[in-house]
Formats: sequence, C-alpha cells, structure tokens
Amino acid sequence: MAIAIAAPPVRRRGIHALPFLHRFFRLLGVAATKTARRPCFTARSTRDRRVARPGEPKRPEEPQEQAAAAVEDADAAVVAGKYWAHRHSLFSLYDRGVRMDAEGWYSATPEAVAASQAARAAPGDLVVDAFAGCGGNSIQFAARGCYVVAVEIDSRKVELAAHNARVYGVEDRIEFVVGDFFLLAPFLKADLVFLSPPWGGPSYIQAPVYTLDMLKPKDGYAAFQAAQKIAPHVVMFLPRTVDQSQVEELSWLSCPPLDFECEENYVHHRLKGFTAYFGKTAGPPSSLSKLDDEQPTD
Ligand SMILES: C[S@@+](CC[C@H](N)C(=O)[O-])C[C@H]1O[C@@H](n2cnc3c(N)ncnc32)[C@H](O)[C@@H]1O
Repeated sequence: MAIAIAAPPVRRRGIHALPFLHRFFRLLGVAATKTARRPCFTARSTRDRRVARPGEPKRPEEPQEQAAAAVEDADAAVVAGKYWAHRHSLFSLYDRGVRMDAEGWYSATPEAVAASQAARAAPGDLVVDAFAGCGGNSIQFAARGCYVVAVEIDSRKVELAAHNARVYGVEDRIEFVVGDFFLLAPFLKADLVFLSPPWGGPSYIQAPVYTLDMLKPKDGYAAFQAAQKIAPHVVMFLPRTVDQSQVEELSWLSCPPLDFECEENYVHHRLKGFTAYFGKTAGPPSSLSKLDDEQPTD
C-alpha cells in the first residue's frame, strides 16, 4: 500500500514536522538523517555507530576505509585544482569550511543560480530536492525559508551536504535522505520538486545538442514523471545545450498542460545552464528570461 505524506500538516507544524519524516523514512527502510548539530549519517552498521564515551580514543578507521578516503580526497583535490577559481561562485561561504567531493566540484549548482531557482518557491513550502549532491540547491531553498527533503543516493555526499548546511546555518530546515529518488518518489508529497540529475560528467558539453535521454541515471521524462507524482510544480536544472523544445514538451505530459518558463543562467557572463520552471513556479508561458550573476570574478 502506498503511503503519502501530506504537505499541509507538514507546513503547519513547521520545523517539528521533520522528525516525523525521519521516522517515516526509517519505516520505509531507507536512511534519513537530521542535521541539527549531531553526527551525520554514515553507512556503517549499527555496531559501529556506538557513541564514544568522553575521553575514549576515536575508533581507528578500517584500512579499506582509510584507502577509500585517501583516493576520494586525491580525486577531489585534482578536480578542485581545475575548479578552484570558481569556489566562491559555487559556495560564497567556501572559506568557512564548505566541503565537496570530486563530483561536487563540477556538478554543484552555482550559488547565485541556486538562489534564483529557490526564489520561485514560497517561504514555508515543502520542497523535495531529488538529486541533492553536496547541498548547493537544498541550502538555498532552506535559506529561502522552505523545508527541504534532500534525497541523494550517495551516503558520502549526504555527509558533505549536511556539513555544508551547518556552515550556512540552515541544517534545521533540511531532512537528508540516503536513497534512490525513483524508488522514493511514489511515497512523497510536497509543494515543489527540484530536479538536478547528473548530466553525465563534464564531457556532456561535447554533444552539440543535449537531449533528455542523456540525463542519468534515467532519462528526463522518467525524472519528470516521478516528480509529478510528488507535486505539479517542478523546477529542472539542465545543460545549456539542452534541446529546449523537448523540455517544453514535458509541460504537455499534464492535462491541462502546465505553465512553462525557461531561463538561461549566466555566471560572470558565461552561460552555465538552463532552468525550466513548470506549474506555479513559471512566469508567463513560454517566456525566455536571462539571469546573470553580477558578482565579481574570483
Ligand atoms: C548534478 S548532482 C546535484 C548537485 C546539487 N544540485 C548541488 O547543487 O550540489 C546530481 C546528484 O544526483 C545523485 N544521484 C544520482 N542518481 C540518483 C538517484 N537515483 N537518486 C538520488 N540521487 C541520485 C548523484 O549522486 C549526484 O550527487
């Protein structure tokens, strides 16, 4: 039997509703973590989750864990070298301790773009961030005053995103869930869904036209239809070379068709991506607006 979380009670109960979601996801058998100043979720067994007594030495990491962490750090360092100049565009509070893994460096939504996408939500809205990554979008929705269910399949990224949410002081508004969005979608209800699925790595840019079937791990139609089960109001962040007519066609999957708006997103006058707004998040139908971040270059 499908269980749905109704949005209105969540909004009425404000922040106290989030522990309810936490219990709900535990019942579903997926892992959820509340970020409020306590240790982040880890994928370790419950045996390993015992809290150390005061003064007790920290449990040494297993050799495999150390090796995996070293490789991960090395990968992140190599990628960070390439994207270092953009660190403050990705997270303006980078210097206060923001952390990313290798994928996070090239896939986080630039902060000014994430803030403008979040501005389409109303404060108090319940937002599902379906592919949360290191938290770039979830943080901006939370800063807007929304309550966020941040779904991410990679538990390590959830740790990083939870840490970054603390850096921004918005951890109390975000419930992080480690899980597959496509499996969870039928069980969720919200006011708005934000979709920022993987574009396929930096090489996506080599395709002259990016089609929706190139999105990962499933095509854009599958992601959009999964989102529609949660809310009719959807925001989708896509590559700058995306086939715009294909994106607009998504609005016709609903009856009556959803309002639709698309926006080109510039950072330092460079086109970084393309945002599609559906439902109440859209402005006048089929308008094309441009957003440019006027922040100084790093
Ligand atoms: C483009 S990144 C998101 C970046 C994020 N918007 C930000 O600003 O930090 C896409 C993320 O989707 C995650 N992902 C891939 N498949 C997923 C799935 N089935 N369910 C949930 N997350 C998934 C990846 O691990 C990756 O972190």
